[in-house]
Amino acid sequence: MSKKKLVFSGVQPTGNLHLGNYLGALKNFVSLQKEMKCIYCIVDLHAITIYQKPDELRTNVLETLAGFLAAGIDPDKSIIFNQSSVSGHTELAWILNCVSRMGWLNRMTQFKDKAGPDKEKASVGLYIYPNLMAADILLYKATHVPVGADQKQHLELSRDIAQKFNNDFNCKDFFPLPEPLISKNISRVMSLRDGTKKMSKSEESDFSRINLKDSADQIIKKIKKAKSDSEPIPENPQELEKKPEALNLIKIYSDISKNSFDKVLKEMAGKEYSFLKTNLTEILINEITPVGKEINKLLADKSHLKQILKKGKEKANIIAEENLKIIREKVGLI
Ligand code: TYM
Repeated sequence: MSKKKLVFSGVQPTGNLHLGNYLGALKNFVSLQKEMKCIYCIVDLHAITIYQKPDELRTNVLETLAGFLAAGIDPDKSIIFNQSSVSGHTELAWILNCVSRMGWLNRMTQFKDKAGPDKEKASVGLYIYPNLMAADILLYKATHVPVGADQKQHLELSRDIAQKFNNDFNCKDFFPLPEPLISKNISRVMSLRDGTKKMSKSEESDFSRINLKDSADQIIKKIKKAKSDSEPIPENPQELEKKPEALNLIKIYSDISKNSFDKVLKEMAGKEYSFLKTNLTEILINEITPVGKEINKLLADKSHLKQILKKGKEKANIIAEENLKIIREKVGLI
């Protein structure tokens, strides 16, 4: 098997990036740049599996790019581009549609969540979305994929598809089986309003999430309103498990402050949640508002952003075409 380590990950350009994307994905993207070659993709083709207004989609691609850069992804170190600009993604996705099995896709919980009760009305794209995700990763023969916990099942499917391709076409170890890299501290940032649901762009209430572009004022209001508990913070982690919103706030605090969960819980035990909220608000403002300001600054120069995408696309396309040439041969396409 090729020993070369390569990171690939993607983010959908479907609106404001939020704290979940930041802690679950972007911060890891940034730190991995120091260790490995990284490819980061703005997955616009994934976004259109649910209808997007064309003008909004165009704006959101640049906003997502600005978010990547503001968080610290360096276009001189990593390849950054938008998915639709490298046509190899769709070509490989078609080939993998023919490798992947209906039974595998039928198990995908995210499709069930996103399609809702009437799945007959969901787009076919939404159903085969995990195959496109496998194509994104395998097109570059990526070995490591930093994601939040919500993408774990899709990553497992990508591994199954890679394995079946290698078996079907008699090319053991051709596609590496991509490994998910999921943050140990906080793999799933939950909604500020309902600690059993993940923080998400699609949640109706803006009070459920902290957006990277939120002002200090908005952060203060959102944390103040965030659901917690009327009793003091418990000492025992098992007690906290029963209070998912409070647990989420402590995990966010622990992750951003770089203090272990146990240490934070020890410090906070017996105190009111208002104490935690005051501290959390302060570190969130320090961590998030500079990123938001940088996003706005970057968005003022759209031609610079487009230039970064163009350069990224050229670099990505070279790797994609090299790999596709071999993939076509393996499959028997002339
Ligand atoms: P997307 O756009 O929904 O989310 C982008 C990244 O943010 C993570 N994330 C979270 N992490 C922790 N807590 C949360 N509340 C939270 N919300 C989002 C996601 O896990 C993800 O890492 N299918 C993917 C995009 C994709 C992709 C790929 C990822 C397409 N192709 C190939 C990796 C490799 C998605 O919809 O992510």
